[in-house]
Amino acid sequence: MMPRTALLKTSALFLALIAGPSFVHAAQDEIMVKQGRILAEALCADCHTFGGNRRRDASPPDFAAVGAMPQTTALSLRVFLRSSHANMPDIILDDVQIDSLIAFILDLGGK
Ligand code: HEC
Repeated sequence: MMPRTALLKTSALFLALIAGPSFVHAAQDEIMVKQGRILAEALCADCHTFGGNRRRDASPPDFAAVGAMPQTTALSLRVFLRSSHANMPDIILDDVQIDSLIAFILDLGGK
């Protein structure tokens, strides 16, 4: 009998091989989105809602509404989160945090 962890690793590898890179990417994206939600709940939820209020004109805007705007892209969010804002505190975020928050906001917006 193979040890359980070795068996798990083997089956994950097998899945990755048969499903190909798209499977691996989908799994990575899902992890990013989950991390993004945890971060957003810790850092952004005092002000923003995550789909509870889809009105675009709410201030601060709902993340699902932000993510769904046609002009919202990973790049536009990255630029926003790296610059300072009049009405929003400048929260210091590292690259991985920014990437996961972007994944979360775009996922909420259906992108
Ligand atoms: C203290 C309240 C506050 C916190 C905390 C906060 N925000 Fe904001 N945020 C605002 C306000 C107010 C606006 C709208 C005014 C503006 O654009 O400056 C805004 C706007 C935004 C927008 C722009 C939406 C658009 O119109 O394009 C994004 C994206 C955003 N916030 C992301 C975040 C993220 C991610 C976090 C957590 C890391 C966060 N905010 C934390 C108050 C906050």
